[in-house]
Amino acid sequence: MSDGATAAFPQSRIPVVNVASVPQRSPLRYPGGKTWLIPHIRDWLHRTEPEILIEPFAGGAVVSLTAVMEGLAPCAVMIEKDSDVAAFWRAAIEHGATLSEWVRRFDPTRENLEKIERRNPRTVEERGFRTLVLNRTRRGGILAPGASFSRHGENGKGLLSRWYPETLAARLETIGKYNDRIIFHEGDGMKILPELLREWGRRAAVFVDPPYTAQGGKKAGRRLYRHSEIDHAALFKMLHEHEANFLMTYDAAPEIVRLVRRYGFDAVCLAMKNTHHNRIPELVITRESQFA
Ligand SMILES: C[S@@+](CC[C@H](N)C(=O)[O-])C[C@H]1O[C@@H](n2cnc3c(N)ncnc32)[C@H](O)[C@@H]1O
Repeated sequence: MSDGATAAFPQSRIPVVNVASVPQRSPLRYPGGKTWLIPHIRDWLHRTEPEILIEPFAGGAVVSLTAVMEGLAPCAVMIEKDSDVAAFWRAAIEHGATLSEWVRRFDPTRENLEKIERRNPRTVEERGFRTLVLNRTRRGGILAPGASFSRHGENGKGLLSRWYPETLAARLETIGKYNDRIIFHEGDGMKILPELLREWGRRAAVFVDPPYTAQGGKKAGRRLYRHSEIDHAALFKMLHEHEANFLMTYDAAPEIVRLVRRYGFDAVCLAMKNTHHNRIPELVITRESQFA
């Protein structure tokens, strides 16, 4: 977090891009979404040429979607522990046509949103749709308990400010075209990842973007995600013990800097802008030097 913590790491040779210049592929708005990192992902996967991309903390799954849609990996495995987010991915992959039809038909009045919030979904499609609606209309896209609806929204459009039915339906339809290349697991990435690392070895590329909740951490993962407790030291150790190529992103917190050093990984620093226009240093961590 402090400049001192990151001073030892060089700046990445790839500049941070304006997210508007990168295709938006995920229907979910994700706190901590990684669209800005896409130029790094493209560079990394071009060199790695993996047989599979593994994303153990999927969230909005921007990296998995980009990898398969841009032909950077033949297939992707995504893992997510939050059962509402998981329902969305299962519905999008298995029932994309239904979901996009519902998106086009939905009238996002406050009354309809409150109805959806209260109602207990009976099927995976209903639950997935509910997740999408709440994600697009709640403040900051936050699904964690206690999140509120966007009152004024962007441009004074309130609840509607992030509900773009045509765009969302089109994204769902594109995902449908790739659904035979995306495998989704609901569960704990910390438990599922070691099995995949053993199975795929060097043939896998692993994109790791875990929730991070360091004291005072600016991402404040605890407020953003329902599941935010990860054993970060165990995650670093796991990646150290296996051969897979990986790319991790983390806030540049002292604890993380220590782990990078302990395992002899490489890191570069990226100055990110958050919504308050402060620069937050973010680390991009790889086994070997990629971006210096
Ligand atoms: C930082 S976000 C990922 C954002 C994602 N990279 C994107 O572009 O949208 C972390 C995600 O990991 C999920 N998560 C938390 N603990 C997990 C676990 N043990 N296993 C799998 N997913 C987990 C959270 O629910 C959240 O969706």
